[in-house]
Amino acid sequence: MKKLCLVISFSFLINCLNAQTEKAFVPNYDESKVPKFTLPDPLQTFEGARIRNQPDWESTGRPELLSFFTQQVYGEVPGSPESASSELIESSDNALDRIARRKQIKLTFKENGRSLDCHVLMYLPKGIGQAPVFLGYNFYGNHTVTTDTMVYIPQAWSRNNASFGVEDHKLTARSRGVRVNRWAIEEIIDAGFGLVTIYYGEIDPDRNNFQDGIHPLFYEAGQQQPSKNEWGAISAWAWGLSRVMDYLEEDQDVDSGKVIVMGHSRLGKTALWAGAMDQRFAAVISNNSGCGGAALSKRQYGETIARINNHFPHWFCRNFHTYSNNEASLPADQHELIALIAPRPVYIASAVDDQWADPKGEFLSACHATPVYELYGKKGIPTPEMPELDAPIHNTVAYHIRSGGHDVKEYDWKQYIKWAKVELKAK
Ligand code: GCU
Repeated sequence: MKKLCLVISFSFLINCLNAQTEKAFVPNYDESKVPKFTLPDPLQTFEGARIRNQPDWESTGRPELLSFFTQQVYGEVPGSPESASSELIESSDNALDRIARRKQIKLTFKENGRSLDCHVLMYLPKGIGQAPVFLGYNFYGNHTVTTDTMVYIPQAWSRNNASFGVEDHKLTARSRGVRVNRWAIEEIIDAGFGLVTIYYGEIDPDRNNFQDGIHPLFYEAGQQQPSKNEWGAISAWAWGLSRVMDYLEEDQDVDSGKVIVMGHSRLGKTALWAGAMDQRFAAVISNNSGCGGAALSKRQYGETIARINNHFPHWFCRNFHTYSNNEASLPADQHELIALIAPRPVYIASAVDDQWADPKGEFLSACHATPVYELYGKKGIPTPEMPELDAPIHNTVAYHIRSGGHDVKEYDWKQYIKWAKVELKAK
């Protein structure tokens, strides 16, 4: 009893402290108040050695940065599970008013006697053989991206959302089609691409609880949560994208050499990290990914490391919490996460009213990843001047800032499709 009271009062104290920090947090939106900092040079190792060419980058620079982001930011992921199987549970050759084929596949992962299921939804263009595809997580279930009533509703835990009819953490038919606006499926199909999507909560429910989703499958006996350097939720979601990629490599309808991983916001952070870790992804798109995604942490503009770690303590590995209010000690910044994707095409997109995600910080990241792309003779972002609104730069490192707020718009998809056509052709 005494012990219980102590535990309760301790967690009460922690909650009060967190609430205090939360209350005290006022985001900076004033460019003149951005602290002075020196951005780490991706062409220099932590010890100061120069990276002069592709072999230096691949043997020294890249592994050092990959290890930093793994151990200090997102956390280590395990490899493939002991067993991974796939089952085609539904398909149609005449979906979406007959313009596309639809497939729904159940993936089952097994490890240590435990198992986890998740469901992949695919729309594929007809009659073009193996299709290049966009692969992206959705926030509220596969059935939200389309009004197609054949699409299954996930059983996994979801964040509540009254306007989407999500109550008691259960997804229901009331949310069918509520996110159609974020997925330009017809345009994707018309352009000869497929769309592959999956509900992120099936891999790891987005809550600070490491007892569900994929984590427990890999626990040692008695383990309750990942170690300090092991996978938070973003790493878990990135791991899930790699497992979908394993499946796509076996699917004869897909050109697995042309899988573009795309994500918005927290799932944009995830897409960047998945693309950095898994070089099978042919290209990466980060839509409004912000703090811990494309934005430079050292600018401390909008959302900061302390705010994100406080509010979403499960997203990053616990080692990342040592950088809360301590950005100066970061030996690397997020432009080097983008550099890890080189020489593969990467698209960073911002929205002008999404200041929380620091559009300028996202732009500068793309710009300062460019020297690594140049080692491969690829064109990045040529100048540190931000482009005008709605004036995209389509190079191997691409960037746009569009009008409007934090969202995925038809405008964004138009750019991604146009750019992907050119970049993947060049492959
Ligand atoms: C919050 C969070 C962001 C995140 C966003 C999202 O705003 O602070 O870091 O990108 O949620 O995922 O929608």
